[in-house]
Amino acid sequence: MESKNIMKEAHQVAETVTRELSEEELSKLLADTDCIVEFKQNKLEAEAQKNWDLFYKRNTTKFFKDRHWTKREFEELACTTGNLKDRLILFEVGCGVGNFMFPLLEDNPNLYIYACDFSPRAVEFVKSHSLFDAHRCTVFECDILKNDVTCNVQRESVDIATLIFVLSAIHPDKMVEAVQNVSKTLKPGGQLLVRDYGLYDHAMLRFSKGHKLAECFYVRQDGTRAYYFSLEKFDAIMEEAGLQKTSSTYIQRSTINKKEGIDVPRIFVQGKFTKPS
Ligand SMILES: C[S@@+](CC[C@H](N)C(=O)[O-])C[C@H]1O[C@@H](n2cnc3c(N)ncnc32)[C@H](O)[C@@H]1O
Repeated sequence: MESKNIMKEAHQVAETVTRELSEEELSKLLADTDCIVEFKQNKLEAEAQKNWDLFYKRNTTKFFKDRHWTKREFEELACTTGNLKDRLILFEVGCGVGNFMFPLLEDNPNLYIYACDFSPRAVEFVKSHSLFDAHRCTVFECDILKNDVTCNVQRESVDIATLIFVLSAIHPDKMVEAVQNVSKTLKPGGQLLVRDYGLYDHAMLRFSKGHKLAECFYVRQDGTRAYYFSLEKFDAIMEEAGLQKTSSTYIQRSTINKKEGIDVPRIFVQGKFTKPS
């Protein structure tokens, strides 16, 4: 993950081809063949919520940076007609402590946000944020693999749903199910906006042996998990969940690690997917 203390953005490029690996990087990846045993994998799956909740207990609101890039990357979020009858309804899934939603609420008076996370601590942090306004947002605890989201967000009522660095935390076998659950809330023609970790991201190449769960899927020291998407896998999940691709791309972002004085190649996938009318 990207801690807010050590990273500084330099520049980014959109690409449709996978990042090329150096020989050293390739041989490190090829040598990491052994996956964690099934018993331990099942435990991580069963304790996913607990591990994320402990993450927020340790890091409180201090880990992720506010995401001020979102309107630049997804122009649909900037729609400001000022007409309150035509409020834009957004559903942010896996909201964490609100680094995505609060900059948007501040910038766009026309927005109403539903936001959920399965970490009770994260939800509490959102509710106690200085910009939290119960007239402009509804925040609730929800595991998108266990709870039907339409218990809190009306079916086909949402213009835009977002999954920002959330799908990667979910077991690859359950990603389609997660997207289908979220998609129920989208209006026909509504859009799902997604940004997540991409194949051969710097963080993927840093995992040492003993952290691999499956191809492209790893566990961090704290028990939270991360999947690194190829564009093919990314698009296939959305298609299987019944959404149509509007766009999808790799984002290659060169980031300076101030602490170590090195240039860090971050790779993300980013896409817009539409619910058919
Ligand atoms: C990397 S954080 C991203 C947080 C936020 N979207 C942001 O951009 O700052 C991933 C978030 O997904 C949440 N999450 C993971 N699996 C989830 C699930 N099954 N249901 C709901 N939230 C989940 C975690 O609790 C965590 O807050």
